Amino acid sequence: MFENLPLWPARASAYAGNVDALYIFLITICGFVCLAIFTMITVFAVRYRRGAGQKAEQIEGSNALELTWTILPFGIFVFIFVWAAVIYFQQRTPPKDSTDVYTVAKQWMWKFQHIEGQREINELHVPVGRDVRMIMTSQDVIHSFYVPAFRIKQDVLPGRYTLAWFHATKPGTYHLFCAEYCGTMHSGMVGDVMVMEPAQYQEWLSGGAATGSLANTGQGLFSSLGCATCHRSDTQGRGPNLAGLFGKLVLLEDGRTVIADENYIRESILLPAAKIVSGFKPIMPTFQGLVSDEQVNALVAYLKSLRSQPAGVAGTPDVKPPTGQTPVTNK
Ligand code: CUA
Repeated sequence: MFENLPLWPARASAYAGNVDALYIFLITICGFVCLAIFTMITVFAVRYRRGAGQKAEQIEGSNALELTWTILPFGIFVFIFVWAAVIYFQQRTPPKDSTDVYTVAKQWMWKFQHIEGQREINELHVPVGRDVRMIMTSQDVIHSFYVPAFRIKQDVLPGRYTLAWFHATKPGTYHLFCAEYCGTMHSGMVGDVMVMEPAQYQEWLSGGAATGSLANTGQGLFSSLGCATCHRSDTQGRGPNLAGLFGKLVLLEDGRTVIADENYIRESILLPAAKIVSGFKPIMPTFQGLVSDEQVNALVAYLKSLRSQPAGVAGTPDVKPPTGQTPVTNK
């Protein structure tokens, strides 16, 4: 329905149909109520117009009428709320085995990096039929990642990650917009999302400069920035052992527990004092201003790549690399 109506953007993601169905329902019900009201006004205006010898009849309240026009709309609104909430949760919950694309927005461009290492600007290549998760942050002000064909819109904020996901269903090129006013060239902060057949996508991935995976870049940084000096993986260092940390619950010094997700790792690099792991001292210096957002992304990707290793409770030195291997190349 509406496929060829130019008012409607292409429908190219798994949940686009659900969003449209709700939207069409809202338009239909609003249209129906609007039509009913104006019809009644017209009919009553003609039927009960003032004529000679007519006298208005006064009517006192009617419980049946009042209950009907209270309960009926209430039911309709609750129905709309539940329907919309289901779609909202669907959009808020990225599926497990999605492929990650790290995004850094800035005035005025979109920078993407795939976990395989490929970088692109204002162009995003994704495979059809795969769940793709966008891990996004901003270098400066608030932007908003908006792909109408996917029915996806997510604010991109400085100082934290926000997530969005989609499952592209149709190969093609789709518009990417910034949907949050972010300065002079806001309207020029646009790009293209290229949805490709899996084979073509693999070809695209293998083309271009081979810079190594994002996790590899992160591993290099982990070593060159000196992280490995304290975060050792062979023995307990001055900082927690980070092998297998990602996705685990972490007990903090103040008794709180947090999940080691992307935002936790990011914060621990840039604001190390914010959450101190139980049993450790707040001795880590901040890396704010020393590492770019892209480098933080690489470090996050590296730590995530360590999660598949056998590891117990995060922070305990129970992962030992084979002898003769340096601690950092613990893969
Ligand atoms: Cu970025 Cu508007």
